[in-house]
Order: sequence, then C-alpha cells, then structure tokens
Amino acid sequence: MIERQTIDKIYERADIVEIISEFVALKKRGVNYLGHCPFHNERTPSFTVSPSKGIFKCFGCGKSGNAVGFLMEHEGFSYPEALKFLAKKYGIQIEETVVTDEQIAEQNKREKLLSLTNVAAKWYYDSLHKTPEGNSVGKAYFRERGFTDSIIDKFGLGYSPESRTAFVDFARKQGFPTELLIESGLAVESSGKIYDRFFQRVIFPIHSLSGQVLGFGGRTLLNDKNIPKYLNSPETLLYQKSKILYGIFQARKAIVQNDCCFLVEGYTDVLSMAQCGIENVVASSGTALTIEQIRLIKRFTNNLTVLYDGDYAGIKASLRGIDMILAEDMNVKVCLLPNGEDPDSFSRKLSDKEFSEFITKNQTDFIRFKAQLMLDEAAGDPIKKTKLIINIVQSIAQIPSEISRSVYIKECSRMFEISEDVLLQAINKELRKKNQGSANTEIIKYPSSDEIKGEKITKPVAIFVENNTLEVSERDLIRFLLEYGDRVVFSQKNPENPDDILPITVAEFIVDELEKDDFVPLDSVWNTVFVLFSEAVRKNKPLSSVYFINHPNIQISQKVVDLLAKRYPLSRFWEEYFFDRDDSELQLAKGVQKVVNEYKWRRIKDVQEKLTAKLADSSVTTREIELIMNRLAAINTLKNELAAKLGEKPIL
Ligand code: UTP
Ligand code: MN
Repeated sequence: MIERQTIDKIYERADIVEIISEFVALKKRGVNYLGHCPFHNERTPSFTVSPSKGIFKCFGCGKSGNAVGFLMEHEGFSYPEALKFLAKKYGIQIEETVVTDEQIAEQNKREKLLSLTNVAAKWYYDSLHKTPEGNSVGKAYFRERGFTDSIIDKFGLGYSPESRTAFVDFARKQGFPTELLIESGLAVESSGKIYDRFFQRVIFPIHSLSGQVLGFGGRTLLNDKNIPKYLNSPETLLYQKSKILYGIFQARKAIVQNDCCFLVEGYTDVLSMAQCGIENVVASSGTALTIEQIRLIKRFTNNLTVLYDGDYAGIKASLRGIDMILAEDMNVKVCLLPNGEDPDSFSRKLSDKEFSEFITKNQTDFIRFKAQLMLDEAAGDPIKKTKLIINIVQSIAQIPSEISRSVYIKECSRMFEISEDVLLQAINKELRKKNQGSANTEIIKYPSSDEIKGEKITKPVAIFVENNTLEVSERDLIRFLLEYGDRVVFSQKNPENPDDILPITVAEFIVDELEKDDFVPLDSVWNTVFVLFSEAVRKNKPLSSVYFINHPNIQISQKVVDLLAKRYPLSRFWEEYFFDRDDSELQLAKGVQKVVNEYKWRRIKDVQEKLTAKLADSSVTTREIELIMNRLAAINTLKNELAAKLGEKPIL
C-alpha cells in the first residue's frame, strides 16, 4: 500500500498539462489547453485540459478525469501503477505502508514465480527459433497455419520439444528449486520424478496487462484424440484464468485507439485477427467470460463486439454471459460468422479488407440479435414468445443507462408487436425486483423524435429527469457546493455587534441549512464530499473542487470529475439558473436557496413515503406505529415550515 502522504505529495506535484503533453500535443487556448483526443479519432481538436482544475475532458467522446485517471486510461495502468509512474517522474520517494510477513512472503513468491515464467517464455521462444527441432517442427507448424514471423514475435510464441524433461533440466541448472517448478505448473510430479507439463507442443505465453508472462497455453502437434488439443497452466498465484484475457497486453493500445474491443474464443483467433490488422482483439481462452475480464476490458473501452462461430448451441450457451456485460454498462455487439468457421479459419479465406468489412457489416447490437434469434425460434408459438419476451425484458433491465433502455423498448415493441407501455411496465417490475423496491430507478419514457417535433435538442436528457428527483436534486446541491462553495453570497449581522456584518459563503449556507434539519446527503460519495465541506466550514478553511478532483480515493475523484465535467444530465434547476452563465452574486444567492429548498422538499417527501409505506406493512407492532406516527408529525411540521417559507407549495 502506498502511504497516503506519498499520494498527497504526488498529487501536489502532478502538473496535468505537463503529463498529458507527453502523449498529446497541446496548444494553449485561453486559460485551457486544447489538443486531439487520444481516446477517439477526431479531425478537429475537442480534448481540453484545464490546469486550474487539474482535469481533462474531451467534448467529443466525453472522457474526463484527473492526471492519474489520464494515465490509467491511456497507458492502461492500475491506480498504484499510475502513482508510481508519477512518483518516478517527479523524483518522489514512494513510502509504502508496512505489509505483513504473510504479504511479503506472497510478494516474494509472486516475484520468484514471475522470474521463472519469464525465463520459461524466453526458453520456449529460443527453442522455437534456435533449435533444429523447433525450426523443423514448431516453426513449420506455425508456417503451415500461415502465421508470419512478425506475429510469432509479437506474441512471443514458442515451442516445447519432444523430450519430457528438457525445460525442467534447464531450469534446475539455472537454480530454480523443484518446488517452485511444480508450483508454477511448468513441471508435474509423477512417481517421485518430475517432468515437463508442456512437451511436444507449440507454446502461447499469456501476458499480464504490463507484459509479464503469467502462464502458458500449449497446443499439441499430434493428431491424437486422446490428448487434449490445448493444455493451459494450472491456476497459480500468477495465473488466475478468470482475471486474464489472452492478448490484452498486445491489444491494449489498439483497443483505446479504436474505442472498441473484439472478443474471440481462442489463441489462434487472436493471432489471425491481429495478422489481418485487427489488433484490438482478446480471447477468454476457452472459459466462460467472467466479470473480472469484462471490467478489464472496460478499463479501455465501453464497446465490445463478440465474434461467434456460426454454431447455434455455442451461441445460446453464451447469451447469459452477455447479460453480465450489459450490466457493466457496456455496448455489446455480436458478429456471427458463417457456419463452421472461427475467426482464424474465416479470416484466411478472405482478404484483410474483406474480413474487416464482413465484421463491420455483420455486427449487430446484442439485444436486437438476441431478440431476432429467439423470435425465429419462437415463430408461431405464443407460449414460447411470451417466455422470450420475459427473457428479453430481463436483458434490457440489466442496462444501467435509461436512455439505452428506452431505445431498446421502442425497438422491441416494434419487433414483438407489443405496446411500449406493456414492455415498460414489465421492465420496471424487473428493475424493482432487482433493486428491491428503490423508487429511484424507475425508467423514464423519453419522447420519440417525432414527439419532439423537429426541435433540435442539444442537451438531450436535460429536461426529462423528474422521476429521479431526489438523486438529481442531491447532485445539484453538491455541484453547487463544488462550483461555488467559496463564493460569498449572503451577509449576516454579527449577533454580538450589530454593526459588524459577517459574510456567508455558499458552503456555509448549505452546510448550515442541511445539518440543521439533519438532511446530510444519502449517496455515499456525496455524503463524504458534504462531510468534508462541513469540517472545512467549521475550521474556517477554504475547500474547493480541486481538492476532490485530486482526491486519492478514485471513486470520489472520478465522481466529482464526472459531475463537474457535466457527464450527468443537467436538471431543470440548473438549466433555469445557469443556462445563460449568469453567476452573479444575486443569481447565486437565489440559486443556492432554491437548490437547498428543493432538496429538503424532496427529502421530506421521501421520508414521508417511506414511513407511510412502513405503516402499511402488516408486521409492524403497535409500538412501532406510534413511533412512526410521531416522526411523521415532526416531518409534517418541517414540511409546513418549508412551504410557508417558499410562500407557495413548490411544484415538484
Ligand atoms: P478450439 O477447439 O475451437 O480451438 O478451442 P482453436 O482455437 O480453433 O484451435 P485450433 O485452430 O484448432 O488450433 C478454442 C479455445 O478453447 C481452449 C483454447 O483456449 C482454444 O483456443 N481450449 C480448447 C482448451 O483450453 N483446451 C482444449 O482442449 C481445447
Ligand atoms: Mn481454429
């Protein structure tokens, strides 16, 4: 663990313009810097870096973050890797917190295993290139399959000879202890003797994100049904197949550049596609896709296209896995290959250009693909059709984005000839099941383009957020705190000396108002932001958004960046108050009162609803009813006070 103090030091030193300039040519434009976005292809620059806020944002693709976020996104670093990169750049000594003996032992073990796997990869590689057997058998095999030297090199392919102990003998001579050889899975023990796990196979080293060899896959060169075609390293401290994607090291840059990743099944599919020039490709290597693998891809892109062999059983089996991808808020497409072909075999039958075109033309959106697939199957069978609709509804309910969901509802309504409202109801029911009744996730019906009647909506989601009111209202409030917290908007007479006028900042006003009625934010990140502001106000210390943008907790910094970079829909409130960019004192004072009152009003309504619902529950005791009634009465008083202050009942 890197020490908190070190992290703070790194953040203090990190100059976002300097850091990003290493990767992107930036030009000064006013107070900001402008360049071509490294995360998507664009002709006119829309990638801006704000040195004062310490954030970058692309107005084309919407990516945003702080300096560390940039490195993670661009270089594929993990959070600690990005910090270490910066520490090195700025000559900051990394202080790591003391780890337990066990952790040290594990770390050492990891390092030992890594040095062994890397030595092994080199040995297999040399044995392919530098031994007569490797050349005549291994290389001949790759040649026959059409792999070029440059692909063989890029993926570090190798060869394990026919001898059953060749590698083991070498490794022992190098001083690697037998236990380590066995623990790495490179050797196996049989009646007191040890042998190579991989022999008479071509070798596919499996790399980590940063290019370390974690394990191996080996393909037999024999045509013997009794031996497995592919053999993989067993699970070790390094090789945990649920967390690994074959090809990710080689694909990572291309995934970011293309903002898209292809997912295939096998080693050779990855190689063949890379050889065709499609480098943004990874394989899950014969296992069902896991959530860790999906998140690994998600670090680089939100767009995933799954390539399927045209074999029906295989497709059906993997449909469930795709629901998991949807739940991660990724856009999933599917491309079906002709029957009996895998990407490796099929790409060989076409030119590179034809193959790319085939994928572009044949990739369909997953929900549409699944719906069509099942619709064909259910043709003329109403019971099957009902089941299919339930199934699709479940898939759609997985999608976190409301806008995407509503698009699919439209589409499926058309495909299944069912009214949108019926689908909407079914999905809302599914969502409630999923979220156990939380009212915040109700899906919103967006107007269709003809309903908008040709009006060009530049901020498409801005106006349609009413069903999410509490959440949005809370976001507005925090946005106010972050953007205007230090601005003085009110004045108050000092109770001890009426001639003395005290200035009140936005932060002071908000903190005071919310704490008074005990309405601290519900969302955990916003709650933290609020609590820190509250502390700062008490200690009379200034606190600004920069502090949160550079917060070492990535969850906090990212959420704040997203909020400030306006990745969330603007609420009606924000539109009304700041649409014309009028942030004069008067406008701010009006705004902050409104945002606080609206938020309180919604919290009151929320509490009321929850308490009333509790009353309806048959299991509450008389004593509990009494308590609930008391609290309802208190809340009601608060509500009346607020209504009186607002002069009229707020229309919400
Ligand atoms: P396939 O049997 O479809 O092989 O397995 P392939 O990739 O087309 O291989 P070639 O073209 O015959 O050489 C797909 C993937 O499933 C895993 C491997 O990752 C393989 O690439 N697999 C397959 C195994 O792990 N073990 C096996 O015995 C077979
Ligand atoms: Mn194949």
